[in-house]
Amino acid sequence: MPAGGCRSLDGSCLGLPKLDERLLRFPGLPSRVLRGRRAVTIALASWRWDHDSLTSNGSCWRTLGCAITGLRRAARVSARGNILHGALVEQEIVATGRGPGMLEFNDLKPVHTELAEELKAALERVLDSGWFVLGPEVETFEQEFASYHGVRHAVAVASGTDAIELALRAAGIGPGDEVITVAHTAVATVCAIERAGAKPVLVDIDPNTYTMHPSAAAAAITARTRAMIPVHLYGHPANLDAFIALTERHGLLLIEDCAQAHGARWNGRLVGTFGAMGCFSFYPTKNLAALGDGGAIITRDAHLAERLRRLRNYGQVERYHHEERGINSRLDEIQAACLRVKLAHLDDHNAARRTIAEDYDHHLRGVVIPQEHGPVTHVYHLYVVRHRDRDLLSRRLRQKGIGTLVHYPVPIHRQPAYADLDYGPGSLPHTERAAAEVLSLPLYVGLRSADVLNVAEAIYRSLREAA
Ligand SMILES: Cc1ncc(COP(=O)(O)O)c(C=O)c1O
Repeated sequence: MPAGGCRSLDGSCLGLPKLDERLLRFPGLPSRVLRGRRAVTIALASWRWDHDSLTSNGSCWRTLGCAITGLRRAARVSARGNILHGALVEQEIVATGRGPGMLEFNDLKPVHTELAEELKAALERVLDSGWFVLGPEVETFEQEFASYHGVRHAVAVASGTDAIELALRAAGIGPGDEVITVAHTAVATVCAIERAGAKPVLVDIDPNTYTMHPSAAAAAITARTRAMIPVHLYGHPANLDAFIALTERHGLLLIEDCAQAHGARWNGRLVGTFGAMGCFSFYPTKNLAALGDGGAIITRDAHLAERLRRLRNYGQVERYHHEERGINSRLDEIQAACLRVKLAHLDDHNAARRTIAEDYDHHLRGVVIPQEHGPVTHVYHLYVVRHRDRDLLSRRLRQKGIGTLVHYPVPIHRQPAYADLDYGPGSLPHTERAAAEVLSLPLYVGLRSADVLNVAEAIYRSLREAA
């Protein structure tokens, strides 16, 4: 199946076998489906005529659209390839509106359906207020977010990237300084360090947790090192005991990248509260998610908080008076109002994520499942398995209608954009091996047990086919 979907219903463009016109004689097809009969034919012709065909070619269904999406669940195909019955097709189309058997990597609809009334009320409140940027909703969200973490200050900004950049700038870290972090992270972590003017120093991960390895970080400390930014990747806290000890011993600043770990805990205490500052992203797929971009920094330090508030608003102390050079990184009222709604459900939603993860742990066979190391409460922003034939597995899952993603396929030190950082191949071996083997499975609030079982079965079958 060509990447990026296919607009045309031409079988050749989909790379499918010759159309099988016999299928058009399928007696149960209702008129609605017959109107899209060419599409149906293409889709069906692409199936292999065995029992597995019922769960294969999901991406074909997605591409060909709603007119045929109901067919797969309704049709039953015998071992010899005869369609046995399909009378439920039309109801299926109307009822599901999506390809049966199709499982997207992420789906934000269930959570927004659950919270629809609360979100609508929040949006209405903002509309009625007539205040749209850095207003009462932002202020209240900041108080609620700080209080959730048991700290005095939260400063809301426009993104997680800005949160890290501004945290560094507020601490006076910039040109000439080195900041230690990992290459196995979203590029934003490194991008933010460079935007602050500092030099990112990339170190290897602990292959069990995919987070910064304390001894790798220790080995990278130089006279120029000013800070360490461990990333609580996938929702699993980095080894905070080790990083607190390390940064205290060397007089360094600890800044936590919590973009993937809202509500995660180390030793029962929330991440973000261990370092001088904790930086969060509220990108729509995060555990605490806005309906657009957003971010925040939490801190106990009143001076840092005050400086962060200035820096996010052009360095302004009062209107049109600029004490230092800042940027525009303000959270808007709509995002803050929605974040307030979702913050109240964060712990429940994280509990739901953990239950789904346990379900996966229980059913998966043939892949390395995620591990929890240390006194952690993992919040499963991502459920990441590992397999040496990751690319083949992900292709086969796609053929079976299951969306997966890779976080992240090319570590930052091997990205062309960062070639000048000058890390050769093999310089971060655990990072590079993880990049080649990790695979993120569907996990979102609203994912059903049956979906987890389907994914587990599809993985089992894919690996058997590949053997
Ligand atoms: C680990 C990590 N750090 C930082 C960020 C940056 O957040 P944002 O996309 O809100 O700028 C992200 C977001 O993807 C992230 O996953």
